[in-house]
Amino acid sequence: MKCVFLILAALGLSLAEESSTYDHFRLPTALRPQKYDVRILTQLENPDDFRFNGTVKIQIEVLQNTHNITLHSKDLTINDTEITLKQINGNGNSENCITSTERNPTHDFYILNTCEKLLAGQVYELSLRFSAQLQDQLAGYYRSSYEDSVANETRWISVTQFEPSSARLAFPCFDEPGYKASFAITLGYHQKYTGLSNMPVKETRKHESIPDYVWTAFEESVPMSTYLVAYSVNDFSHKPSTLPNGTLFRTWARPNAIDQCDYAAEFGPKVLQYYEQLFGTKFPLPKVDQIAVPDFSAGAMENWGLVTYAEVSLLYSPEYSSQVAKQGTANIVAHELAHQWFGNLVTMEWWTDLWLNEGFATYVAGLCVEDIHPEWRTLQIETMSNLLTIFRTDSLESSHPISRPIEMTSQTSESFDAISYEKGSSVIRMMHLFLGEEAFRTGLKSYLERYAYKNAEQDNLWESLTQAAHKAGSMSTDYDIKTIMDSWTLQTGYPVINVTRNYTARTAKLSQERYLLNTDISRAHKGCWWVPLSYTSQEEKDFNNTAPKEWMECTETGESVPKIIEDLPGADEWVIFNNQLSAPYKVNYDAQNWRLLIETLNSEEYQSIHVVNRAQLIDDVLYFAWTGEQDYEIALQVISYLQRERELLPWKSAFENLKLVNRIVRQTPSFGFFKSFVKKIITPVYEHLNGINDTFSSIPQQDQVLLKMMVVNWACQYQVGDCVPQALAYYRNWRSEANPDEKNPVPINVRSTVYCTSIKHGSDSDWEFLWTRYKRSNVAAEKRTILTALGCSREVWVLQRYLELIFDGKEGIRKGDSKWAFQAVAKTEVGFLLAKKYFMDNIESISAYYNQLLKSIPRLLVPLQKQIYTRKDYAEFKTFLADSQKFLKGSAEAIQQTLEIILTNVQWQERNYDQFTRAIKHLL
Ligand code: BES
Ligand code: ZN
Repeated sequence: MKCVFLILAALGLSLAEESSTYDHFRLPTALRPQKYDVRILTQLENPDDFRFNGTVKIQIEVLQNTHNITLHSKDLTINDTEITLKQINGNGNSENCITSTERNPTHDFYILNTCEKLLAGQVYELSLRFSAQLQDQLAGYYRSSYEDSVANETRWISVTQFEPSSARLAFPCFDEPGYKASFAITLGYHQKYTGLSNMPVKETRKHESIPDYVWTAFEESVPMSTYLVAYSVNDFSHKPSTLPNGTLFRTWARPNAIDQCDYAAEFGPKVLQYYEQLFGTKFPLPKVDQIAVPDFSAGAMENWGLVTYAEVSLLYSPEYSSQVAKQGTANIVAHELAHQWFGNLVTMEWWTDLWLNEGFATYVAGLCVEDIHPEWRTLQIETMSNLLTIFRTDSLESSHPISRPIEMTSQTSESFDAISYEKGSSVIRMMHLFLGEEAFRTGLKSYLERYAYKNAEQDNLWESLTQAAHKAGSMSTDYDIKTIMDSWTLQTGYPVINVTRNYTARTAKLSQERYLLNTDISRAHKGCWWVPLSYTSQEEKDFNNTAPKEWMECTETGESVPKIIEDLPGADEWVIFNNQLSAPYKVNYDAQNWRLLIETLNSEEYQSIHVVNRAQLIDDVLYFAWTGEQDYEIALQVISYLQRERELLPWKSAFENLKLVNRIVRQTPSFGFFKSFVKKIITPVYEHLNGINDTFSSIPQQDQVLLKMMVVNWACQYQVGDCVPQALAYYRNWRSEANPDEKNPVPINVRSTVYCTSIKHGSDSDWEFLWTRYKRSNVAAEKRTILTALGCSREVWVLQRYLELIFDGKEGIRKGDSKWAFQAVAKTEVGFLLAKKYFMDNIESISAYYNQLLKSIPRLLVPLQKQIYTRKDYAEFKTFLADSQKFLKGSAEAIQQTLEIILTNVQWQERNYDQFTRAIKHLL
């Protein structure tokens, strides 16, 4: 019997009646919450004792007979003697009671055993009192603060961050996304504060006993998941926006930063209108508040009607924020507001399909920003960055499918990664391009209508889109979306298509295999993808047609069907597959085709290849050289054409790849050659852009501004032209200002380069000067720039002191920002070894500092994994990670990926280093 029980439990079946032995991480399914009444009193006046306490009343429908109520609660003190349970429907004999309670800390369960059996069909009201510390861990219900410079005082505020599984830290609840219910929130606080929640205020009245305290009750919400509930008590200022259709829209920040809200306040309402039109569905709530929180773990959070942001994400200062930062704000606002439909109105059934939230928000945010700011030309840039990201992360054996079973709570947090976001977005774009506008839109609309206020799985989306596509005639009725898309969402990785042309028969034979960076692993039998094939030739040059001319198909058993393409040109013309990278795959060609491409690229005609495909060729060939299927000679011939290139994307693609080689080679004797090569290819574009000189106001195209920022950054690192002396001169001018906090002569868009270069080549006092500016700055974007530049020092003691500052939590670097500061140190030559040692020596205290804060430890690993490249160091780091397991809980996937990346570095060094050095020398 016990054995059967275990099997059933493993299957996640409801065994609620046997609560004490129920040990599955999903809630039992016997009950369903319908409505929550949450009252919370927050005390912010006593800095020695920040607490909140409250009551929650949950209306619970019984779906199956059960003897207990199992819900989530974590780190909450619950007074067992004050629990009440009464039946509220029908004519049942109303009062029930609780015999005992238990906790299951592994799964954060709080289990209440009932006196009487709860019977299917009954509805109960459970009432609990709870209290807890208002802590500073940036999750659950937590506190944050800022300095009021006028009164010279610290001001405290409170705010929530519940996604994915932290609502249980704030009040007892059924904390799974499938348990949607309506929420009536009431907040109690000192009357000098404002209370905000998802819904508008219903009424405010005096607290019955505490002087100067009020209760603010908010309207009851629409049905929603627990992770989207939000509230905050603060003394912020706000900026109202106007919206034609009556939705109230406000942007909040600490009073001293309210003037940085203008851009978000103007942009936000436009975004709502854009989505109402894109989705054909009205925004369902009466209001939106967006609020900039000084201490925040992620970039932003889409709580329904009360969107929370890190200051750096929401606030924009024309005097201090760069163009990149402005576009970042636009993108993040567009992303969070997209969730109001994709995520909030229709929610994934379980975290398995998190990508439906994050992939969609990422994708449509790109469309939205392009629509509102066409002059920025961000869609192409965003698309390219997403692809560059996934080509890297998803080429690891240790990657995972977009949609995957979630078997542990830690996997939920780990799913907020490039696979859900960037790969999710890239496969949706692929679908959009092969379905066409009409089918895509009508399919989405019907999906959103059908599942509004409910939950969905990816199959539900496939169904709506297939129907729409067949109706619009944009996809053959022999095909269905599920077959095609499952090959992208249920399998790990992406394919490389090998194209072998027969120049006399004018055909090409195509085969596919999974592209893997790790060359110790065989690529055979690693999957099959349905690949939309768009292509063009040197004569046709029709890169605008992104619709597939043909498909690479898979058999039912997942074998690739061989494909021959006909009617191709002869031996003197190239072909290119995957127009504008309309799907996430790589393409390798035979030697002759590469030769033809190299010829065109290195000629006046290079622009006859679409800019996105130029970026593609660079990325592909550099990968193939890395994994040994192309010679570095060929790869470097391809990128030598960059001497002519004046557009952003090919440069971005090249830099992303060269950066990785740089991180290894700069630790070796060959760096001199590499440096000369980089100098040679970037000098022409550096000069074309007028170097580091402040020409920004005369550049009409924003993507050229971004190009200049990037090129200047490389130029100063590689000491091209006058970059370093000019940067130092800007910095000197700033230092000689009487009031450097008010007046900064350094052009905004090159500040990060100027600061970093000056710290790198400068003195202790240059560092102190910048650190003082950091402490006094009122603008989060400027603070982030400075924090990063402070890591550029080459003084060991300065870096050592900085590393200690980063994690001390006192001297002004907030917990949410510390990972960026660590990255800044760790990514430089000198800082790397220090940061690695610091990380290894202090893993216990770092781990305690973050307390499993989302994406913190994984972010620290990123710069380290890129610079370890010898077998010995690999072995040492591997042992360290294994020995430190207990401090690295919740980072299992990041660790696997780190080890695999290091291994691919080792492989590169062993296989390519000599060949690479020869090829570089050859080109100089
Ligand atoms: N839903 C997320 C916030 C989040 C992230 C919650 C991780 C829990 C864990 C939000 O919509 C989001 O995706 N934020 C991004 C920014 C976005 C523009 C990519 C973030 O915070 O990095
Ligand atoms: Zn998101």
